[in-house]
Formats: sequence, C-alpha cells, structure tokens
Amino acid sequence: TNRVFSGIQPSGDLHLGNYLGAIRRFVPLQDTHECIYCVVDMHAITVWQEPEELRRATRELTAAYLAAGIDPKRAIIFNQSRVYQHAELAWVFNCVARIGWMNRMTQFKDKAGKNSENVSLGLLAYPSLMAADILLYKATHVPVGDDQKQHLELTRDIAAKFNNDYGDSIEANGLDREFFPITEPLITGPATLVKSLRDGSKKMSKSDPSDQSRISLLDDADAIAKKIKRATTDPEPLPPEIEGLKGRAEADNLVAIYAALADKTKPEVLAEFGGKGWGVFKPALADLAVSTLAPMAGEMRRLLGDPATIDSILAEGAERARPLAEETMRDVRRIVGFVG
Ligand code: TYM
Repeated sequence: TNRVFSGIQPSGDLHLGNYLGAIRRFVPLQDTHECIYCVVDMHAITVWQEPEELRRATRELTAAYLAAGIDPKRAIIFNQSRVYQHAELAWVFNCVARIGWMNRMTQFKDKAGKNSENVSLGLLAYPSLMAADILLYKATHVPVGDDQKQHLELTRDIAAKFNNDYGDSIEANGLDREFFPITEPLITGPATLVKSLRDGSKKMSKSDPSDQSRISLLDDADAIAKKIKRATTDPEPLPPEIEGLKGRAEADNLVAIYAALADKTKPEVLAEFGGKGWGVFKPALADLAVSTLAPMAGEMRRLLGDPATIDSILAEGAERARPLAEETMRDVRRIVGFVG
C-alpha cells in the first residue's frame, strides 16, 4: 500500500516556504495515494503557545489546507491531539530512541541555542513524536521541505530499531518482520528550501522577526507585490543557465519561487528570463505570486469566518484517523508486552 502522511505545526505565521515546500505538494498526491494531513498541535506546544492563539492557528492552518485544494472527503485532515494514540506511540518510541540521537538533531540545537538546559523536555523528544505520527499510520511516503530531512532519517532509525529490538515478539505474534515500514521522504521540486527575502543565507521561517523576510499566506495582493519588489538581490541580470546561479543565493531563491509557482523547472524559467534584469523579473514574479496566493488568502479568510465548519472537518478527520491508529497500537501493545 501507498500511504502519505505529513504534518505542519500551527505556530506563528504560515508562509510561502510552508506552501511551496509542503502544502502545494500535498495536493496532487491525493490523486495517487491515500493521504493523511495533520495539524500537529502537540508539536506546537514544545515551545510556549498562548492557548487562544493555538486554537486560532489550528483553524488557520486547516483553512490553508482547504484553500490550497486538499479535499477533506478524500484526504484525512485532523488535529493531532484528538487522536491519543500519537502520544501513546511516542512514549514507546521515547523508550526505543536514544538521547544521543535527539541531541544530534540540528533543529533542536538551533531552537535550544545556548540555553539547552532550560528548554522543554518535549522539544528534545520532538522527533520521537514525529516518528509516531508517521508510523502510527505505517505511512510509506512523507512530503516535506528540506529542513525536515534529518527528522525523517531519525524516523527510519526508530522504525528499524523497533523492528529489530522486538523482532522475536513481532514474529511470535505472527506479524510481518518489517512491522514498521522504512519511510521514504518526498523532498522534490524546485523550492524544497525557500529562503528569506531579506537574506539568501537564511531559510524563510515563522520565527524570523522581520515580517519583510516572508510572504504570509494571509498577505493581500498589495503586501505580496511589495515584499517581492523589495526583496534583496544582487545587481546582475539573470543568467541564461542554472550554473550561473551558483554563489547568487538571492537570485537562486527568486528563480526557485517562480519555478515552483509556475510548475516549471529552474532551467525553464532561466530560458525565459536569462539576460533580463530585475526590473523585468520582479514584476513578473509579483504578478505570478499574486495570482496564486491572493485568491488563496481570500478563500482562507472566507473559511475562517465560519470556524464551526472548520472544527467539524477536523472532528470528522479524527474519526477516520482513529481506527487506523488504533489498529497499529493494538499490535504495538501486544508486541511490547503490555497486558490488555
Ligand atoms: P513545520 O511546521 O516547521 O513546517 C511545515 C512544512 O513546511 C516545510 N517548510 C519549508 N519548506 C520550504 N522552505 C521553507 N523555508 C520551509 N519552512 C518550512 C517543512 O519542511 C514542513 O514540511 N516537524 C515538522 C512537522 C511534523 C511533521 C510530522 C512533518 C510533525 N510531525 C510528520 C511530517 C511528518 C515541522 O516542524 O514542520
């Protein structure tokens, strides 16, 4: 079977990186795979979230999924905290994974900074909950941006260690030796790591203090166009070929964004714009971004005007996710040796 799982945290401002690296790529997978798209509210609280703000962000992310074209009749959309099995499996994985594995995670090191004794224990254990999200559904494919690659490698390590440590018990219970699948990351397309519009050496992120560094999914047409026109660039025209983008991080980023929004490759974009200056390229990119993102922002606002409908979509999604999750957990409890 082919099952896709991915999740996004409802924390802070959803941005173009989340859209191009993840949400936009979730949509076509609905035609070929059984898809589960989660709003990972339990991950969000690994750093402090105001409760009202967490509720708002959960609905906003759900609205983004819907506005982008995820169909809640086909895909399962739900919020993580509703399906308790995520927490239950994460605990088992906390006992399979090693502290050393967690300490090596670059995202943990970045988020903890010099203060690693005073961050939540949840932030350290975060990748173990992420592995539980994926493996609870025995997902085979996980579409994410490039920054999640290391977490997915850890998910594979946890699956392999569980299968190995409990190998005899898995067999004694008459189950498949490869009880948890070794998941494939799907990190594809031209924009797997969208950069800040101000600084091409940094990724576009929810936590960047500068609002000008990112295009928010709720930005209106005016804001989108302004941010693109003010984006940092070098003075050179665009190169005719992709090799010419080496060492030009800002130019490379804007070409990647254009390519992803136009469903083209970077060489195709350069074939069209090579030799042209920013005075031509930036307005073309602004038009393209506005024509895709502004209607989506409008649809998100419309959906957010009716939170009861959003909440019922999440509730129905959880109803569909729960039996799938429970099927795996029933086996895991037997494998581990829990009575009952
Ligand atoms: P999160 O919430 O930070 O980001 C959500 C998705 O957006 C992608 N992304 C980007 N892609 C391209 N360019 C960027 N600048 C950019 N910034 C973010 C991320 O790669 C991600 O795909 N740990 C995950 C959430 C998670 C998850 C999961 C994902 C929890 N459980 C299970 C997959 C499967 C995270 O923090 O993503």
